[in-house]
Amino acid sequence: MQIKLPFMRKTKRATEQLDKGIELDLHTIPEHVAIIMDGNGRWAKERGLPRIAGHKEGMSNVRKVVASASKHGIKILTLYAFSTENWNRPKTEVEFIMKLPMEFLNTYLPELVEENVQVQTIGDFDGLPSHTKKAIQEAKDQTRGNNGLILNIALNYGSRHEIIRAIHSIVQDVQNSEISIDDINEELYSSYLYTNGMIDPDLLIRTSGEQRLSNFLLWQSAYTEFWFTEKYWPDFDEQLLKQALLDFQNRKRRYGGI
Ligand code: FPP
Repeated sequence: MQIKLPFMRKTKRATEQLDKGIELDLHTIPEHVAIIMDGNGRWAKERGLPRIAGHKEGMSNVRKVVASASKHGIKILTLYAFSTENWNRPKTEVEFIMKLPMEFLNTYLPELVEENVQVQTIGDFDGLPSHTKKAIQEAKDQTRGNNGLILNIALNYGSRHEIIRAIHSIVQDVQNSEISIDDINEELYSSYLYTNGMIDPDLLIRTSGEQRLSNFLLWQSAYTEFWFTEKYWPDFDEQLLKQALLDFQNRKRRYGGI
């Protein structure tokens, strides 16, 4: 006998709703969606291709998912592209991934500008190779005035690093008498994180069947709804995004209340 967990029933309901052509409620679209884009390597392996082919396909998929997210009225799309732990991968793979933002922006920046997308990043920008920094800076500059979807790329990002960095800055500001210890509360603390000024993610999606946070947005995801799919990132498409959004709309967020 298969035990049905509540989240499985909801996912099934979202699938049935999709099959019946039930549309999303435009008033309850999550404002901030974060995605852990996992499974590029396995996608490539299943096709007898090198891992980097999976990352390349993953990069092309970013373009498609940005368009779908924008179409569905999502305000912020945060994509986990490279973690502080990903430096432990083979040098050739790291170098390849670090070239992807440049390739992505060389190919798609004019379209992103045209579609009113604003590019932002979170993570340790200074620790990136100069060609990666240059491409990202150019994209930020060119899209600064846009007020559509915020494409927030997490690059060289690690939540624990972000938390420690915030503590350092707060201690320094206390020592310099710019703030007092009594000023420290959740709101002030949040303002020291890379995500300063952004609302917390409403929905976090992880592809490839893994169900963990992997050092992503630990503070910010206190009340985030999680959604997992077995599909690898290169196969994550508009239909699956819609399913995740429908599923999100079937949830009751109680924030610790009843
Ligand atoms: C995880 O899959 C994926 C990454 C560490 C890299 C993700 C990068 C992209 C999708 C390209 C990003 C590009 C831009 C412009 C944002 P994995 O390699 O861990 O897959 P596996 O678990 O199957 O090995």
